[in-house]
Amino acid sequence: MGFLIYMKNIFDTHAHYDDKAFDEDRDALFSSMFAENVCCVVNQGTDIASSMRSIEFAEKYDGVYASVGLHPECLNENSMSDISEIEKLAAHPKTAAIGEIGLDYYYDISKDLQKRVFIAQIELANALSMPVNIHDREAHGDTMDILRQMKPKGILHCFSGSVEMAKEIVGLGMYIGIGGVVTFKNARKTVEVVSEIPLERIVLETDCPYLSPVPNRGKRNDSTNIRYVAQRIAEIKSLTEAEVLNTTKANAKRVYNIKI
Ligand code: NI
Repeated sequence: MGFLIYMKNIFDTHAHYDDKAFDEDRDALFSSMFAENVCCVVNQGTDIASSMRSIEFAEKYDGVYASVGLHPECLNENSMSDISEIEKLAAHPKTAAIGEIGLDYYYDISKDLQKRVFIAQIELANALSMPVNIHDREAHGDTMDILRQMKPKGILHCFSGSVEMAKEIVGLGMYIGIGGVVTFKNARKTVEVVSEIPLERIVLETDCPYLSPVPNRGKRNDSTNIRYVAQRIAEIKSLTEAEVLNTTKANAKRVYNIKI
């Protein structure tokens, strides 16, 4: 009597639990999330060390999977040769994707280096038949050129482009990652994208510890907050929260090729 049966239908496709914001209570937080509604988390590597930590978490928790890769903000003169380390980490049985990779023109890091490392990591993913998790900040034109040419499978995370761009991503067979931003007051563009793109092509994410949805905006984010993202998408698409969570969980399992 009075037992609460959890649905376990939250799949967080993009998280950074290696961030120091979780140093105080990481294990307790993982345990409580997996005891509640969270079924899976894909922790994103941003460099070699955080990719190794993603694998460490994946070995410790059934529901955690690793994504390994070099983030555009973390590049240096060794990055091209570091890709061979990423290739080794990609062989781990719980590595689900190559990521977080992409282009970030907000920061003053050589665009040429960013493009070379991005392309080399997509080549790796394609050679291994693995999906990618892509970061695109203020670099829509070059990101789309590369995706059109190389046709990887995977997710464009924290999507910030237009409806037209979202439709092209879907046309390429990729998925759109939606997180806390869709709950923000000024999210007009993201709301439009969510309403125009079929739910079958949307996956949910935190990007935690950042981008907490309303009503927790500004606080540390974690995967349990994805229910607020699902509620907002349900409102936009006239569905129930459960429909959004169940379908996006199925989508995430499909794109990451996770069979549980
Ligand atoms: Ni991220």
